[in-house]
Amino acid sequence: MFIGKKRLGEDIAASEITDHPIYLDRRKFLNGTAAIATASLLPFSMLNAKSAVPEASYLNLKQSPYSTDEGLTTYESVTTYNNYYEFGTGKSDPAIRLESINFPDKSKPWRVSIEGECDKPGEYDYDDLIRPFTLEERIYRFRCVEGWSMVIPWVGFPLADLIKRAQPNSRAKFVEFTTFYDPEIMIRRNVLDWPYTEGLRMDEAMNPLTLLAVGLYGSELLGQNGAPIRLVTPWKYGFKSIKSIVKIRFVESMPQSAWMKAGPKEYGFYSNVNPDVDHPRWSQSKERRLGEFLKRKTAMFNGYEEHVAHLYTGMDLTKNF
Ligand code: MTE
Repeated sequence: MFIGKKRLGEDIAASEITDHPIYLDRRKFLNGTAAIATASLLPFSMLNAKSAVPEASYLNLKQSPYSTDEGLTTYESVTTYNNYYEFGTGKSDPAIRLESINFPDKSKPWRVSIEGECDKPGEYDYDDLIRPFTLEERIYRFRCVEGWSMVIPWVGFPLADLIKRAQPNSRAKFVEFTTFYDPEIMIRRNVLDWPYTEGLRMDEAMNPLTLLAVGLYGSELLGQNGAPIRLVTPWKYGFKSIKSIVKIRFVESMPQSAWMKAGPKEYGFYSNVNPDVDHPRWSQSKERRLGEFLKRKTAMFNGYEEHVAHLYTGMDLTKNF
């Protein structure tokens, strides 16, 4: 966010944009039964290119009707230009740091606890948690509060599916999310109040756009993107998309997110993408899509108005920012 060293994707070249059909063709290619055999016929340089998408770990994904057909941001940009403050405040810090440490460590169980105001709380191993749900691919616009944006093919399932299984009771008005925190491998400085937390109102959490993502570009999430499971709310600024979730708690009162605690005048609970409400220190009217030179106008609710505007009917969005 505001502490980042590089701004607005100035180091991302226009040539890095991946053409959407090329990606889809490549996916079709990789999803084929002969994928592994034919992969060996690819030129060496292509297999080793830094930007190469890893072999798909999720096959035959359903394509979500909520997807955009806008050009994708390259895999390289999505996995090297990150905000994950537990691993550093520079955009490239998480990718660099995670090259040398094994996070999340797949040899150890990843537990997610579902707690609070619900009839079916529980603590789940990650695999058990996601097993009941149908994964799909959703290509979403992703816009950060600092003014850069991306288009990312996420793999995940609607948060609503998980909430229905947890059976929240009538006192559950909000959902609070918490990130894993381990001071042995993550930043100890009080950049934010660790562990990172975020929240959604129950109707926002149940909205069909709200995704629990477990992958992108057809393969598993990398640590820097919030492995093994993170939130994606495409009509909100990127900081709502909490990474590496270990706790989902149903609560009665509005939770305080890590960013609200850090700067309540700058980061509100709703954090809806809104070109008419500026951040106190910069405008939100335009954005730079990573890989593009010219800025484009930011759309209300990041272009998802038809799906979410009704959630905020009658609310003053300059106060509820
Ligand atoms: N989640 C945790 N735990 N820690 C963070 O620092 N940064 C947020 C969000 N989720 C963050 C986080 C911010 S500011 C953004 S813009 C997005 O993650 C960035 O997601 P990406 O790096 O996958 O693009």
